Parts: sequence; C-alpha cells; structure tokens
Amino acid sequence: MAPVRNARVVYASIPEHFPEPGKHIIYDDSQTIDLDNVPLNGGVLVKVLVFSNDPYLRERMRDPSDTSVSFVAPFQLNEPIENYSVGRVVRSESPEFKKGDYVYGALKCQEYVVVDPKVAMRTKQFMRLEVHPDIPLSVYVGACGMPGQTAYFGWREFADPQPGDVVFVTTAAGPVGSFVVQLAKASGLKVIASTGSEKKVEFVRSLGADVVFNYKTANTEDVLKKEGPINIFWDNVGGEVLGYALANAASRAKFIECGQMSGYNTGYPAIRNVEQIFVRGLKVYGFLAYNHTYYKPDFYREIPPKVARGEIKYREDIKHGLDKLPEAIFELQKGENEGKSVIIVAEA
Ligand SMILES: NC(=O)c1ccc[n+]([C@@H]2O[C@H](COP(=O)([O-])OP(=O)(O)OC[C@H]3O[C@@H](n4cnc5c(N)ncnc54)[C@H](OP(=O)(O)O)[C@@H]3O)[C@@H](O)[C@H]2O)c1
Repeated sequence: MAPVRNARVVYASIPEHFPEPGKHIIYDDSQTIDLDNVPLNGGVLVKVLVFSNDPYLRERMRDPSDTSVSFVAPFQLNEPIENYSVGRVVRSESPEFKKGDYVYGALKCQEYVVVDPKVAMRTKQFMRLEVHPDIPLSVYVGACGMPGQTAYFGWREFADPQPGDVVFVTTAAGPVGSFVVQLAKASGLKVIASTGSEKKVEFVRSLGADVVFNYKTANTEDVLKKEGPINIFWDNVGGEVLGYALANAASRAKFIECGQMSGYNTGYPAIRNVEQIFVRGLKVYGFLAYNHTYYKPDFYREIPPKVARGEIKYREDIKHGLDKLPEAIFELQKGENEGKSVIIVAEA
C-alpha cells in the first residue's frame, strides 16, 4: 500500500498564558507513513481512534529546559504532544498484542504511532483494552479512563466519608468533578457543587447534587456560609475558591487537592485563610492519581459495567478530526468545554 497521511499535533512554541491554536499548538498534516513497512522493532503499530484533551496538558507546555519540580515532564518543541488515547493495533511484532486489539495509553498525538510496549507497559502507560459493547470508545478516556480513575482513586484513598458529612466539589460538571459528585451521593452525603454556566449547573443537578450554583453569578462565600461547614473539599480550582473553602471548613475537614485550574494559564494566586489549616486541624492531601494505580484492577472491574448500566453518568464535548485539537485545547483551558473534551481521530 502507498504511504498514507500521518497528521499530528505539534508543540510549536511556549505559551506565556493561554495556548493559542496555530501559534503554540499546531496541526501538521505534512507527514506520511508506510503502514506495511514502517519498522516496529518488536513493537506495535497503532491507529489512533480517540485522543483525550485534559487540563494538565498545560503543565507540559513549558520550557523543555525547565528543571523545576513538577508531576510531569515538559513537551519537546516541534514534536507531537502526547496524551491518553484509545487506538487499534494495525500490525504487531509483540507477543502481547495482536492485530485488531484495542489499546489505551499515553500516545504521541498522531494518526498512527509505533509503540514499544516494553517501555510503555513498564511505565504502566499502555494496556490492552477490553471494550464493553455498550460503552463508546470515547468514554475510555473519560469516565472509564484517567479522569474517572482520578475521582475513584482519590475518593477511595482520602475521602473516608462519615454519615452527615458535607462535601464541596468544584468544576463539578467536568469528568473528574461529575464523577466525584456521584461517588459522594452514593456515600449518602450532602453535596455542594459549583460550576461555570447554567447548562453545566443543570447537568450537575441531574446527578443528584443537593446545592448547585454557578460561581460566576452566585457568591461562593455566601453559599458556603449558608450550606457548610464542609467536611470534605474536592478542590479542582485552587485560588480564591480554596480561600473560601478554608474559611468555611469544619474542624478536621479533609481537603483533597486534585487540581488548580484557576492558575494553570494566568499564574497561581496567593491563597487566603491558610492559617485555618492549623486553626481547624485540617488534613490537606496533595493528590496525583498516578500514585494510586493499585486501585486500577478494582476500577476496571467495577466502573465500566456501572457506566454501561447508566449508573454512572457522564457528559462529553466531542470534536471530530485532529485538526480540531488545538482549538479544543484553547477552549478547555478557558473553561469553555461542555463535558469531557475528546477528539475522535478516526472511526474504528
Ligand atoms: N490530581 C490528578 O491526578 C488529576 C488528574 C486529572 C485531573 N486533575 C485536575 O482535575 C481538575 C478537573 O479536571 P477535568 O479533566 O475534570 O477538567 P474539566 O472539568 O473538563 O475542565 C476544566 C474546567 O475547569 C473549570 N474552571 C474553573 N476555573 C477555571 C479557570 N479560572 N479557568 C478555566 N477553567 C476553569 C471549567 O469549568 P467551570 O465552567 O465549571 O468553571 C473547565 O471546564 C483539573 O484541575 C485537573 O487538572 C487532576
């Protein structure tokens, strides 16, 4: 077969604030690949079907020579970005994968990728995927993928829910937040949830959250004063809201520090009321999902069947074609995504 297009999305320059499509993140369709003859060196050739767009990608868009402490390495300039994907094996020289297998892992953002499974599996970033017939592939980068795992791992590890607890969840309409809302409700707790648009508020209400508000039109501090104090704070945003949560925490409340969305593009603001950590004896957990992968077997046993039965709900913001990814990245960093941001790269 003649070589085919192998479009990719490249990290082109370092953003100071928001990553702009066509400037910092670029779609490039100039490359081709010979699917029959590209050397695999014991690896597998994967056709990428679904590419995930997640907030943490912004952390990777820094100076590649930056040696400061971070949970993730910077992208290399003029190279494809990389993230969680679902793909299908086109050719395999690995005994562990065969043609037609679905796979999940952190892959280079290209239409076709050669993966060395020895390296990828050692870093626990590449696996064969058992696809449930009632679950769309896109969900395997959302509720049944890394964001779902984040909610599930963090809740199991740190929440320790007690009868009567009040939980506050931010970015509650996103894949992590909406999953946490459902876990908290399943534990019988009162859930206060914030999000940034009326449509998102409606979705979070449909999940059973008790108090849902649009933080752009309501006053977060007033809501927490009225509905708190809070025993568990699932923090996806940091900044000003974290300050309000500290001021409205119950004694010995748990703060699960999952993300700092408010600071990724514009810099991390100073946090008010930090003395309350001491005054109220708070437990503050800095949480990175990849440190808790021992929950993965339980996650894959429990969650996909629940999703298939409609017992765990999700909302997706799907775009078709890798050329839409740079714009989708920008939108997500601005907070404009309506659900889990996903790119369908190709049909199975
Ligand atoms: N610790 C871990 O291992 C781990 C793993 C995955 C994700 N996370 C974190 O979990 C959080 C949620 O992730 P997700 O995948 O579920 O994301 P998401 O909800 O799909 O997208 C991010 C959302 O953040 C909200 N947001 C709040 N303040 C914002 C601001 N100042 N600027 C832009 N957006 C703002 C927006 O929703 P609203 O309209 O509701 O404001 C936006 O839609 C993020 O902080 C992410 O980094 C952590």
